[in-house]
Amino acid sequence: MSESRILTSSPVLLILLSLLMASFFDTTAGQIGVCYGRSDNPRQNSSNVVALYKKLNIQRMRFYDPDAETLNALRNSNIELILDVPKRDLQRIASSQGEADTWIRDNVKNYNNVRFRYITVGNEVKPSDLDGRSLLQAMENIDNSVSKAGLRINVSTAIDMGAVTDTYPPSRGRFTDEYKDFLQPVIDFLVRKKYPLLLNNHPYLSYKDNLKDIPLEYALFKPTPVVIDNQYSYKNLFDAELDSVYAALEKSRGGSLEIVVSESGWPTEGGPGTSVENAKTYINNLIQHVGTGTPRRPGKPIETYIFAMFDENLKGPPEFEKFWGLFLANQQPKYDVNFN
Ligand SMILES: *[C@@H]1O[C@H](CO)[C@@H](O)[C@H](O)[C@H]1NC(C)=O
Ligand SMILES: *[C@@H]1O[C@H](CO)[C@@H](O)[C@H](O)[C@H]1NC(C)=O
Repeated sequence: MSESRILTSSPVLLILLSLLMASFFDTTAGQIGVCYGRSDNPRQNSSNVVALYKKLNIQRMRFYDPDAETLNALRNSNIELILDVPKRDLQRIASSQGEADTWIRDNVKNYNNVRFRYITVGNEVKPSDLDGRSLLQAMENIDNSVSKAGLRINVSTAIDMGAVTDTYPPSRGRFTDEYKDFLQPVIDFLVRKKYPLLLNNHPYLSYKDNLKDIPLEYALFKPTPVVIDNQYSYKNLFDAELDSVYAALEKSRGGSLEIVVSESGWPTEGGPGTSVENAKTYINNLIQHVGTGTPRRPGKPIETYIFAMFDENLKGPPEFEKFWGLFLANQQPKYDVNFN
């Protein structure tokens, strides 16, 4: 993209951008994290990545697999972590408490100077997945292992918007027939344990699938006619999607649950509506927005993890999967952060 080439060609501008981003994250540091995916070649050097998080004062990270190099780099960093149990491990961990104990010992207990905030058992696990049948048992085993190890860490799983339907207007939101039975025991577990549910909330994906019905402005938090839903009014798709999941939870004995937005971002190229400008608008507006809550949960800051830190060249197709990064793979920023 031409804009990123211009930006990245000037060292002075780069330093300025980094400074802007640092103060930017600082103002909202309480609620904002950034996802660090590693589907790239060559791999990022994790020490440099953690140094970049620190430089920008990003205090939370989501990280998708228990890679020792990265966990070591996070030691004493004070960065709070969402660590995923990858889908490929679910069946094994569900099959025996010992397997779960080993996983927690090797990837969590051994890093006693890393701050684990959540362990996410599976990302976007589907009822039709072979591993889907193992999800609840894997969560329970991991939770037991965490307690046995004398740790206090939230255990959850991350769903995506594919789990809900009838999302317009948001109060009609419900889990699809397929997901309803699949998620009910998971919801009951989370309610019992008072752990939040994680949601990958990507208005971009809804937008690109419904170009004729969803105004770009509504997806980008720009001024747009509001969507009226009984006593609630919606000014952006992010809140509408989040509240449709809250509505679905209320219909499935999960009204007490908190939702953490475990991914949200906007790609800069490779699909309809992608551009550096749109990504910059989305991310900046998102960060400004999360402090205020949603119409159904007003005033309650939304703990949110931006997707993602870097472009990941091994992702896709579709092509846009590669371009969600705030930074290029070479750690240069793709756009500045425009705050006032
Ligand atoms: C990562 O970079 C640091 C210097 O910033 C270097 O000391 C270290 O060896 C590198 N690690 C790998 C695995 O290349
Ligand atoms: C668990 O999650 C809640 C938010 O839902 C948070 O307030 C709490 O600090 C988390 N626990 C730990 C140990 O991080």
